[in-house]
Amino acid sequence: MKILVTGSAGFIGSTLTMRLLERGDTVIGIDNHNDYYDPAIKEARLARFVDHPNYTHLRIDLADREAIADCFATHKPQRVVNLAAQAGVRYSIENPHAYIDSNIVGFLHILEGCRHHGVEHLAYASSSSVYGANTAMPFSVHQNVDHPLSLYAASKKANELMAHTYSQLYGLPTTGLRFFTVYGPWGRPDMALFKFTKAILADEPIQVFNYGKHRRDFTYIDDIVEGVIRVTDRPAPSNPDWNGDKPDPGTSKAPWRVYNIGNNSPVDLMDYIAAIEKALGKKAQMDMLPLQAGDVPDTYADVEALHDQFDFKPTTSVEQGIANFVTWYRDYFKV
Ligand SMILES: NC(=O)c1ccc[n+]([C@@H]2O[C@H](COP(=O)([O-])OP(=O)(O)OC[C@H]3O[C@@H](n4cnc5c(N)ncnc54)[C@H](O)[C@@H]3O)[C@@H](O)[C@H]2O)c1
Repeated sequence: MKILVTGSAGFIGSTLTMRLLERGDTVIGIDNHNDYYDPAIKEARLARFVDHPNYTHLRIDLADREAIADCFATHKPQRVVNLAAQAGVRYSIENPHAYIDSNIVGFLHILEGCRHHGVEHLAYASSSSVYGANTAMPFSVHQNVDHPLSLYAASKKANELMAHTYSQLYGLPTTGLRFFTVYGPWGRPDMALFKFTKAILADEPIQVFNYGKHRRDFTYIDDIVEGVIRVTDRPAPSNPDWNGDKPDPGTSKAPWRVYNIGNNSPVDLMDYIAAIEKALGKKAQMDMLPLQAGDVPDTYADVEALHDQFDFKPTTSVEQGIANFVTWYRDYFKV
């Protein structure tokens, strides 16, 4: 298949692109290499596959309407996986405009490209953050999610709503994937595992928010990519039993779906830190700090819908995943 992957120099996008190339797909990758975090790691991720004969890299911005329209007209992808976005909950408090440009305007350009070029299926990254103020655990796609706590979360929920209108109006199959805290080799330098590892190795204190009282459904990168591939391969179906009198938030009469991809096994932040200490063979010094604005204290994914439809759920334990990350980190930074 010919698949357009946006955010192909990113953490999830680069890992997905490698897997698609390995199984014989042709991939068109889009990334603007922005400096939200050190772009050197984006270059390094890309270097692993940029010269592959079935890979074409386009260094363009999702918010560039003409460039995105040209990309669809020239390459005519069959499937699209939209992972490019301004990520990060905390950064959305300082830089709200970046979220509207990439996540809202950019996403519209992707929807328009799919609509005008007969794309068979659009799969796109949503986020566990859409659960916002919800506290009923585990978080299920059948719950209503109308109370986001950050502009980032609101932009991801907006993507699900925008996708629904395109599925309804133009019959475009779309699937939103709510990822739960993704970690692993080639991960993001702005996320906890990366920051903690770096600080512990440098004998610097780590910042532990909410005084360590977070529980997170940390999900290993390979599990996320396996889920994305299974979902992308099967265009979203409509739900013939969907009933507007009792609207199910997770399905629709239109060919539109949303799924959680999470480990279904939340871990206390302090246990996560203990696993990092064990993998590094070194104790952390901790600055205990209050909950950050925009953050949710706990996440826990109900993955029943994903399991029912795709016979799949993540299986990697945090101990194994962290050990894999630390091996990669030591090798990459030669520490
Ligand atoms: N990593 C997680 O824990 C997590 C959790 C939930 C959701 N997500 C979502 O998954 C997707 C991928 O996340 P990631 O962790 O790989 O992030 P990432 O930042 O590593 O990857 C995103 C990539 O998109 C690119 N990009 C950003 N804005 C762009 C634009 N306007 N035009 C072109 N390229 C642009 C960036 O340069 C980056 O390489 C994002 O949509 C993110 O919101 C991630």
